[in-house]
Amino acid sequence: MPKSTVYETKGHPIVYGEYLKDKKLPTVLVYGHYDVQPADPLELWESPPFEPVIKKTKNHAKGAIFARGSCDDKGQMFMHIKAFEAMVSANELPCNVKFMIEGEEEVGSPNLGIFCKKNKKLLSCDVIVISDTAIIANDVPSVTVGLRGLSYIEVEVVGANRDLHSGVYGGAVPNPINILCDMIASMKDKKGKITIPGFYDDVAKLSAKERKAMNEAPFDLNAYKKDLKIGDVQGEEGYTVIEQTSIRPTLDVNGIWGGYIGEGAKTVLPSKAFAKISMRLVPNQNSDKITEIFKNHFEKIAPASVKVSVRPHHGGEPAVTPSDTPEYKAAAAAMLKTFGKEPIPVRGGGSIPIVALFEEVLEVKSVLMGFGLDSDDIHSPNEHYGLFNYYKGIETIPYFMKYYAEMRS
Ligand code: BES
Ligand code: MN
Ligand code: MN
Repeated sequence: MPKSTVYETKGHPIVYGEYLKDKKLPTVLVYGHYDVQPADPLELWESPPFEPVIKKTKNHAKGAIFARGSCDDKGQMFMHIKAFEAMVSANELPCNVKFMIEGEEEVGSPNLGIFCKKNKKLLSCDVIVISDTAIIANDVPSVTVGLRGLSYIEVEVVGANRDLHSGVYGGAVPNPINILCDMIASMKDKKGKITIPGFYDDVAKLSAKERKAMNEAPFDLNAYKKDLKIGDVQGEEGYTVIEQTSIRPTLDVNGIWGGYIGEGAKTVLPSKAFAKISMRLVPNQNSDKITEIFKNHFEKIAPASVKVSVRPHHGGEPAVTPSDTPEYKAAAAAMLKTFGKEPIPVRGGGSIPIVALFEEVLEVKSVLMGFGLDSDDIHSPNEHYGLFNYYKGIETIPYFMKYYAEMRS
């Protein structure tokens, strides 16, 4: 009989369920997350973020569900529940299934890692399937074969002991905002390379053949620029947009603040400046190591006129989920069946920190069979998930389970 439990953690609880049908059948663990990124800025939402509505869009002629989490990841997780329900009621469940839905993916899964280490037996399985990534387009299916890691840091730059009159003191007293901007700017050179010593030391080099293959995936630069209303792309010289957003590491400011940001003008020389900085990592970089070298570098380049402090937030390791495994083949066959086209293997630019941990702790590989679109505005206002994608996922998942079970028997 199916059973389910909610496991409390030091943070948000983990929802677990299982239906162990037959010891002889392989076991598929479905992982997803019910937590979401902050919905703000709320004023940019065209409908309230937690009241789903269906609207048509350019990419979703049949309509899309607009709500925070619709694509990332409640909607995608829910496909698995509906697919499971259908398989069970048709008496066609081809394998044992375990569900694990967590509430801390968006903050690096700190408690799920601990839970996995403590519950190896509970979580034992043959493969983990995750729908928390995207396909290239609704008529161009793809399976994600890698994820980037992450190192997330907050910095503080302090000048004078108090805010000052910018006329009386300006010119001599350090302005921490100006200084922070200089420091951030110095961390990239004109070719878009990150200048932190040692930053690229562990970056895995891909062969010319691998790079050629990944650039054969359909990508329309003009449509990309038009969609985002940007004059041009930028980035590390010598790499295509596909490469820059998947196999190369990045350094980006996620937020920066300080001084006066209210209405009108206030002539103030601020005492403090802050920034949140994230670095996307690629195999074989390690988030603790990168955090450490960032910290040392940031402290080293700070001028004597200010004090800096560096506070690491969460991190996560990069992962590769290759295309020569039974789980990849089962996902590819399932997508071929439902889309009528062989999916393209793609390396994802985002991060799912638990994937590397699943591999390390449970020694199980994941298959990243997501159905979203990059244009679904995950983490942004007006996040949405296509109805086509939602139903296509529900249709594809049972084939994945069926083909996987057949391959393993
Ligand atoms: N579902 C995303 C990751 C993702 C999205 C991978 C699209 C590939 C394509 C996930 O929920 C996410 O946003 N993860 C965070 C992780 C972080 C906060 C530790 C991320 O990538 O920013
Ligand atoms: Mn997600
Ligand atoms: Mn997310």
